[in-house]
Amino acid sequence: MTFQKAIMKWYDREGRELPWRVKGGLRQDAYKAWLAEIMLQQTVVKTVIPYYLKFLKKWPTVENLAKAKEEDVLREWAGLGYYARARNLLKCAQAVVRDYNGAFPDQEEELRKLPGIGRYTAASVRAIAFQKPANVVDGNVERVMARIYAVKEKMPAAKEKLYTLAGKLVPRERAGDYAQALMDLGATICTPDNPQCDKCPVQKFCKAYAEDAPEKYPQREAKKAVPQKYGHVYWLMGKDGVLCERRAEKGLFAGMVGLPTSTWELKQGKTKPPVKALWKKSGLIKHSFTHFDLTLQIWHASAEKYDKIKESYFWIQKKDIYDAGLPTLFKKVLPYTLGAAAATANSTGRKRAR
Ligand code: ADE
Repeated sequence: MTFQKAIMKWYDREGRELPWRVKGGLRQDAYKAWLAEIMLQQTVVKTVIPYYLKFLKKWPTVENLAKAKEEDVLREWAGLGYYARARNLLKCAQAVVRDYNGAFPDQEEELRKLPGIGRYTAASVRAIAFQKPANVVDGNVERVMARIYAVKEKMPAAKEKLYTLAGKLVPRERAGDYAQALMDLGATICTPDNPQCDKCPVQKFCKAYAEDAPEKYPQREAKKAVPQKYGHVYWLMGKDGVLCERRAEKGLFAGMVGLPTSTWELKQGKTKPPVKALWKKSGLIKHSFTHFDLTLQIWHASAEKYDKIKESYFWIQKKDIYDAGLPTLFKKVLPYTLGAAAATANSTGRKRAR
């Protein structure tokens, strides 16, 4: 049996049932395939499921999404992270309606012209929505290839080699099922730690298994430490609710709702609250971004009267704050200010940053 036959047989039997997935060589609706793939780019399956279902309910077609307001899309996206994806999601829906009459193209070259669609997403949409051959390579597939071929080059330099190796195996038929079979193998059996080689349908093809060292692959450069930054975040209760900020159009969390915060620096600076009040400390929050770790000192105060506030500030009723679309960083403030029961947003569900 070939590698492809072995993995497809396994997928037909054991592949996960997921809300965005149709098995048996069927084509998935391109809008649904694209939506899922954008969400899954940096986020694990378990976290994506409720967001995917919520988006489809609110915007069942690409035409519906194209008409959405950006702030609504950002609010619904809150918690998934990497917010440029949400802005591009809307731009892409608008472009598909405007330039392609609402029908996603099936050519990778055309797909890649659309906002937010890179090599991976173009290939996955072509494979999953059209079942046409495409080389779909995400982190899971890279790991599987690195092990099958016991690739000695280190990541991330090995990426192109892994891409080429994966491309040689792409079958002509049922390319979407094949792509998702590889992803599932990587997610459930060929896992980063403790892979379950005894259950692997392609064990006999695997050079890393033959070497008795699957976990050695993919090989990596030693991890670089990321800088630690510090700052302050402010929770102000006023007569109209909680003081919030619409963040600038550029930079982290662009255009999203946040709590007032200082700049974030390599050393903790002096507190500069958004208004004069009797500010009190209430705990520290920690958050990891791709390029730095952040520790914020939380301050809280109440104020009935205050000087003029910045234009970007506005008020949100305390009861609405949890659903206001705050990114996870700011949601971490809520247990300190609303009580632990009100806020459950501690885990981000991000894929492990390497
Ligand atoms: N990760 C990225 N795309 C996926 C898919 N279609 N199924 C499962 N995991 C995925």
